[in-house]
Amino acid sequence: MATSREYGLGEFTFPRGWFMVAESAKVTDKPMGVKYFGQEFALYRGKESGRVILLDAYCPHMGTHLARNSTSYVAQDGPVEGDSIRCPYHAWRFGPDGKCNHIPYSNGPIPPAAKVRSWPVKEHLGAVFVWHDPEGGEPDYELPVIPECSDPSWVPLAFDDLGVVESHTQEIVDNITDVAHFGPVHGSITQYFENEFKGHIAVQRMGGGHRTLTTAGGPMLETEAVYHGPSLLITKMSGTHDSYIYIAHTPVEDGSAYVWHGLMVKSPTGQPQYTAEDTEIARQYQAMALAAFAQDFEVWRHKRPCIKGLFVQGDGAFLKQRAWYKQFYNPRAMKRELLQAVEGVHRARGMDGAPPEAVKPVPVAAEEVVS
Ligand code: FES
Ligand SMILES: [Fe+2]
Repeated sequence: MATSREYGLGEFTFPRGWFMVAESAKVTDKPMGVKYFGQEFALYRGKESGRVILLDAYCPHMGTHLARNSTSYVAQDGPVEGDSIRCPYHAWRFGPDGKCNHIPYSNGPIPPAAKVRSWPVKEHLGAVFVWHDPEGGEPDYELPVIPECSDPSWVPLAFDDLGVVESHTQEIVDNITDVAHFGPVHGSITQYFENEFKGHIAVQRMGGGHRTLTTAGGPMLETEAVYHGPSLLITKMSGTHDSYIYIAHTPVEDGSAYVWHGLMVKSPTGQPQYTAEDTEIARQYQAMALAAFAQDFEVWRHKRPCIKGLFVQGDGAFLKQRAWYKQFYNPRAMKRELLQAVEGVHRARGMDGAPPEAVKPVPVAAEEVVS
């Protein structure tokens, strides 16, 4: 595995953005130890407010991990009190703001240094996201809204937890521009393919057949895959069923990532309120979508890092995409400058098919030439 520095991404080791840290349903008042951005955290749901709290893991008293313990009586009795959490070692208690608010055996004052960092989190689309910013700033973009989430005809999003892949996130993000892998890996017959970059958004529009996800003679598979920031990819797919594919990846170490996959599907039997049968069909379709994603995953698991690709005519706009991705690894002040040569619509040279107007309302502005 290679590091952010080796990819030449920028000043930061880990990018700025919203990152998924857990499925909402799995976060309870039983704290979980999780690792992202090369550091340990304690993640739990407050009993009082029901909100999710993410703290730096190590207790300032003597360095104990707040959430990786099952045998201490503090842990056995339930370390979460209200929205606070007790350390399993000497039972210091920390509030959701990270400040120690009780030391059970000490009558002296609580020192101001008795605190851990509390991270900004949001529950959205059935997942928990943290805002990570090496500069410590407020979020500069919002998480995307999927209007169909509140439409009763859609079978709700369900997650596949894929665990850690020992690849730098750059290798995963490369996928959005990788037109030439669709045929060999997924059996796609690509009829049109293009990328568009704008601010924190990267789009891939593609249409064609697909051996994993469509049947011979079936409808054309048309997808619009959108990166909302560096880590969350939402793909709108029309083909056998209207659906959204959800893929989130969060750096664990500098060179590995935790990955989730998910799918929501419009009632395959055409009901205004989805049924048990719809759920069954949706989960089968999800298994097929996961099989398609697993085709990419297997390549990532075993490839060596692509620090500098040997790109040829017909490859996608990798260089533009990698330049787009750099915005998240550098100070915000550099964002405009980094995006200047990147924003717009790009096609691989030789890929002349244009998306139908219904799919692509944006006019083609430029042609990417990769050499
Ligand atoms: S190490 Fe946490 S209370 Fe002592
Ligand atoms: Fe792929």
